[in-house]
Amino acid sequence: MTPAFPTARTPNPLDAPPLRWGVLAPGRIAAAFVTAVSRYTRQRVVAVGSRSLDRAQSFAAAHGIERAVGSYAALVDDPAVDVVYIASPHSEHATQAQLAISAGKPVLVEKAFARNAAEAQRVAAAARDAGVPAMEAMWTRFLPQTDVIAQLLADGALGEVTTVLADHGQYFTHDPQSRLFAPALAGGALLDLGVYPISFASFVLGAPDAVVATGSLTDAGVDAQVSMTLVTGSAQACLNTTLLARTPTTASISGTTGSLEISGPFYAPATLALTTADGRSVRPPDPIAGHLGLCHEAAHLAQLIADGATESPLLPLDETVRTLRTIDEIRRQVGVTYPGE
Ligand SMILES: NC(=O)c1ccc[n+]([C@@H]2O[C@H](COP(=O)([O-])OP(=O)(O)OC[C@H]3O[C@@H](n4cnc5c(N)ncnc54)[C@H](OP(=O)(O)O)[C@@H]3O)[C@@H](O)[C@H]2O)c1
Repeated sequence: MTPAFPTARTPNPLDAPPLRWGVLAPGRIAAAFVTAVSRYTRQRVVAVGSRSLDRAQSFAAAHGIERAVGSYAALVDDPAVDVVYIASPHSEHATQAQLAISAGKPVLVEKAFARNAAEAQRVAAAARDAGVPAMEAMWTRFLPQTDVIAQLLADGALGEVTTVLADHGQYFTHDPQSRLFAPALAGGALLDLGVYPISFASFVLGAPDAVVATGSLTDAGVDAQVSMTLVTGSAQACLNTTLLARTPTTASISGTTGSLEISGPFYAPATLALTTADGRSVRPPDPIAGHLGLCHEAAHLAQLIADGATESPLLPLDETVRTLRTIDEIRRQVGVTYPGE
């Protein structure tokens, strides 16, 4: 008999009680987020805030959002907003999350949650002091496929896990103005792309005991490409991230009795292939495809808020801080610092 996949326990995103969302920083992923929540949840995006009123108004017009404001402070202070989604460059996340928290607003903060662990820790402490929920928008963690993987691991379906492989590389034409390449905006592969395989390794193996990294930098000094080994006990995660090439973006988890392959891109709804001594089974991708899967993180946070919880059991703030601590150490080894850090 071929091995069986457990059923995902992830709730239907339509089940989460509707909250009124404010989008802070209307860039590319903010547009994808609004499309996903509008299509697959009962969440309502009621306001958008930009550094420019013009940009806020055109985003609002494009997405049918009723209110547009020309500052982030006006957005977080808007009494019609229950929860704020922060979609700015990495360098801005911590300050803006603290702005929302001081206004008493729960926050969903795009990955990477902050530039470094110290900033992430400050946001976590502010959220806890204020009793306000805060969560990293590491959307993979809230996908149904991730719950399936969690159950397989908990059930020991792979035996003792020894090896995690994952990569996230995309080709970007070099543009010093782009947030991806600008040191001042905490650009580079690690915070934008590498955070996915690093968070994945954390999900599977927990905290690393040791980190070994090597990489190359751009002329401006952000990481262009990094290869990393994260060691937890006797298990190893071998990870790669690059801005210089489109890589397979696949992941796998292998253990003493089986292996699980996740098709690329592994951080989005993907195909799972499970191989054990009983044979091989394939699980097709979750039906809500691609970036529409962002709906799950929004629904998860809305449900937490409705339940009076302040942290996600699927991605606690301590794990978000730990991921950034791992990235801090990787950056130290490859020699990347951001101005003003
Ligand atoms: N979950 C995912 O799949 C996914 C995918 C891509 C990116 N992301 C994450 O989402 C965040 C934003 O990425 P993006 O690709 O959407 O970026 P983007 O298109 O460049 O948009 C970022 C927005 O941030 C605002 N901003 C605030 N301060 C800024 C500054 N100093 N310089 C430039 N822009 C500034 C801008 O809006 P205003 O000036 O109008 O306020 C801009 O539109 C990052 O954390 C990234 O890692 C997540």
